[in-house]
Amino acid sequence: MTSRELRELYINFFKEKGHAVITSASLIPENDPTVLFNTAGMQPLVPYLMGEKHPAGTRLVDVQKCIRTNDIDDVGDATHLTFFEMLGNWSLGDYFKKESIAWSHELLTKVLKIPQEKISVSVFEGDADAPRDEEAAAIWKSLGYPDERIYFYNKKENWWGPAGATGPCGPDTEIFYEFDRPKCCADCGPACDCGKFVEIWNNVFMQYNKGADGKLTPLAAQCVDTGMGFERMLCILTGANNVYESDLFQPIIAKVESLTGKKYADNVKAFRIISDHMRASNFILGDDKGVAPSNVDQGYILRRLIRRAYRYLVQLGAPAKSMSQIAQIVVDNYGDVYPELTRNRDFIIRNLDREEELFGRTLDSGMKIAGKYLDASATDKKLAATEAFRLYDTYGFPLEFTSELARERNIAVDTEGFARLYAEHQEKSRAGASQKFAGGLADNSEQTTKLHTAAHLMDAALRKVLGDTVFQKGSNITAERLRFDFSFDRKMTPEEIAATEKLVNEAIVANVPVECVEMTVEEAKASGAIGVFGSKYGDKVKVYKMGEFSNEICGGPHAASTGDLVSFKIMKEESSAAGVRRIKATIGG
Ligand code: ALA
Repeated sequence: MTSRELRELYINFFKEKGHAVITSASLIPENDPTVLFNTAGMQPLVPYLMGEKHPAGTRLVDVQKCIRTNDIDDVGDATHLTFFEMLGNWSLGDYFKKESIAWSHELLTKVLKIPQEKISVSVFEGDADAPRDEEAAAIWKSLGYPDERIYFYNKKENWWGPAGATGPCGPDTEIFYEFDRPKCCADCGPACDCGKFVEIWNNVFMQYNKGADGKLTPLAAQCVDTGMGFERMLCILTGANNVYESDLFQPIIAKVESLTGKKYADNVKAFRIISDHMRASNFILGDDKGVAPSNVDQGYILRRLIRRAYRYLVQLGAPAKSMSQIAQIVVDNYGDVYPELTRNRDFIIRNLDREEELFGRTLDSGMKIAGKYLDASATDKKLAATEAFRLYDTYGFPLEFTSELARERNIAVDTEGFARLYAEHQEKSRAGASQKFAGGLADNSEQTTKLHTAAHLMDAALRKVLGDTVFQKGSNITAERLRFDFSFDRKMTPEEIAATEKLVNEAIVANVPVECVEMTVEEAKASGAIGVFGSKYGDKVKVYKMGEFSNEICGGPHAASTGDLVSFKIMKEESSAAGVRRIKATIGG
């Protein structure tokens, strides 16, 4: 079975059961400041699990791009991945346990032809929050699963969610594939991580919302949220030993072999890290929300992935620009399923080459300095925070990167001390602090700063021209142009575009200073400021005011006064997503 066949079988099965097929959402969550990336298929669907009406109906199916970075250091073994695809089907207040379980059984045993005796399941044993799930157990039993293959576990094993700090959650039933090997001990079962039992599917019975106070309240309607690990399932169906043997990774591995002249079999860990990190980086860069490497948030995760992969490529003797050559393979291998990769191919390649150039300059000297520091730490087995920070600050070594080098020599890094130094550095560097804002700046150059200031003016102008239902949905700024997404459900007329341009240009001609005032979120709201109130801004927020024209919560950085922008022009107005329009604009001259 190929990866394409598995995606199709899954989607078609649920389509036949009345599910609408929806496309994968962006990897970068919309309006969810609790996580950096989508970590599960349900994440983009949270509002609908909470009761909002989904335009496609009450039964949905998709393949969602996901990234989980908590196990980043374990990548290189047989099972851990940063990027993965999750096959999922949902009931939004429609069917519940009976259909969900029966369909999972049918797909696994009839369509994917997994022998039923290879399948074990677990259900929730019950506690003060929710009762023992006798209902789910009885359904499994009625489908022919014997008692000894139905396990009852507690919340640690059989409760899912919320994905972030708050949101929908509930008891689940998990489905496991059992490999032909002896049990590791008398207690061995699905909850054991010896590898005999591998979780293949999770059906969550979403019944509660966890609030910020930690309390569970019932959802408006009972929902089902399921997730199947795509790469893992493909492995089982093809009899592969690990995910890297599948058609998802083989072309990447072959490319790394040809670039380096080294064999996968002799360098398993390095090849796996390169393959996983390159694939994940390509999906982050190739997302329509296009994040570039940086020192904050998603950009920093991306930077870590790229730099770690680059180090291993250099170690294997890869020539310059190998990363962008690997990128082309990823785009070719996935472009038909995720057309955004093809659309954003140039952005991917430009950024990989740029990051290689930035890091390539310092990697060599940084490795020498790191070697010296680590030699000197050989006795007390501890690398000082000042040294780890110097590697970060001067040589661009992410902390985890240094930690990995240290670990290879059994040396621990003073990560707490590093965090303190980092915080001090942030205080000192205004630019560092001001990077943390909702817009997606490619860098903090003068030009991007001005374009970002223009985004504020345009945001205000659009609300004047199109009305108060306009809200910023996202922005992405490079030195050349400003890209701005906003909620609005039809094409703008030429007159509306002209009126927006005119308002922004008037504000530029007025040359008013850009003032920044710090206040609490409540004060900001009271002052009529717009912006992302739900974001993690801490107690105080910065409000940027440009005369009477614009008043917006933001982290900066901004031009000193509006006149710095010289002039403003909208290049393009187009659809971005359902109910979201996108403007590309430029400034100057
Ligand atoms: N949301 C569930 C999971 O990620 C299905 O396992």
